[in-house]
Amino acid sequence: MKPKVMVVVGTRPEAIKMAPVYRALQAQGSFAPVLLSTSQHRELLRQALAPFALEPEIDLQIMTEGQTPSQVASQVLALLPPILEDVRPRWLLVQGDTTTAFAAAAAAFYCRVPVAHVEAGLRSFRMDAPFPEEFNRKAVAVACSLHFAPTPRAQANLLAEGVPAETIAVVGNPVVDAVQWILKTLPPPPQDGKKRLLVTLHRRESFGPPLAGLLQALRQLAAKHSSQLEIVYPVHPNPHVRQPAHQILGGLPGVHLVPPMDYSDFLQAFRSSRVVLSDSGGVQEEAPTLRVPVLIAREVTERPEAVESGWAHLVGTDPQKVFSQLETLLFDDAAWQRACGAANPFGDGHTGEKIAEILAQRSHGGGK
Ligand code: UD1
Ligand code: UDP
Repeated sequence: MKPKVMVVVGTRPEAIKMAPVYRALQAQGSFAPVLLSTSQHRELLRQALAPFALEPEIDLQIMTEGQTPSQVASQVLALLPPILEDVRPRWLLVQGDTTTAFAAAAAAFYCRVPVAHVEAGLRSFRMDAPFPEEFNRKAVAVACSLHFAPTPRAQANLLAEGVPAETIAVVGNPVVDAVQWILKTLPPPPQDGKKRLLVTLHRRESFGPPLAGLLQALRQLAAKHSSQLEIVYPVHPNPHVRQPAHQILGGLPGVHLVPPMDYSDFLQAFRSSRVVLSDSGGVQEEAPTLRVPVLIAREVTERPEAVESGWAHLVGTDPQKVFSQLETLLFDDAAWQRACGAANPFGDGHTGEKIAEILAQRSHGGGK
């Protein structure tokens, strides 16, 4: 029987980035991958897995309305160990910086199951932004015996924290694999000359006044340019986001508040947009593949490579600044050209295969 690798997902971005890893493990053939979902997210996770035709084999079903990170962590820590004892995977793979990733890595560590981290080494160097993700990803690194860094910078961050060099591999980010996969299935984007602005906002540290300010900036933009502008905003279902989004932007002409989109629909909307306003991590990484400029509505980013590539621009959360930068990029062609970048720093679309190959080599060699 093949040794098992448990691939853990909990939220939308984990599903999108682990789908290519799971598929590559299957194709590589040394392991039997087992997809475990904590369901920290429910419909968002299912939506993200659907275009890859994946269903979790094991589901912890932990999501509750308005949950806290502590509730998520305590559920995963309680429910995962008996499953690990039963399945006894050769590796447990976690991705990114969610509370699912942190708690699953801790549970595996306690059960003496080796942990490997996909998208290792990202750092904002601010424990409060993004919150609580900077803690989560640092804590995952402590529990891991193998670190899949997306870029040389992420590798350098790990080395600076004393992580042994031989446990780090620079492999790119599997989000590039995911985007390339989906793009093959999409029709050409519309060439109708419409000015579209795509928006996603969901970060915990922005809840309250910073988020309300961003929404007010969008309101002002929609009111000023309603005849020429379409704002498409798939609203995150978290009540801390949904409620102010509908209160401030609901019913405005040219503003489409829609439920979270399927990954394929979202990528199509992304590449059909003139510009994207987002506080998402994954959206910053997708911009260089989709070749659409992104304004990052955050004070800091753990993905400076996206900024250096020229495709992502850190705008912060000051409403006037956000308003004026969006207006400029939407209506000034020369400024828009300058906001378009160059090469993709996040890999070549073969990250899943590289991860599967390295895991196989390490396992045959008996190392961790
Ligand atoms: C989580 C991650 C964040 C990641 C984001 C991706 C943590 C601490 N945060 O944040 O790093 O960027 O996912 O989207 O791990 N909800 C639903 N249905 C869903 C998903 C969420 O209704 O399918 C609602 C629920 O009320 C839930 C709330 O959103 O309690 C918050 O979900 P949670 O996963 O705790 O936080 P996110 O803000 O989504
Ligand atoms: N995304 C999606 N549908 C949406 C909004 C986003 O499929 O309506 C995708 C997006 O392309 C990216 C991922 O979700 O790959 C990012 O997830 P999110 O912003 O929730 O999390 P983060 O990346 O910030 O952790």
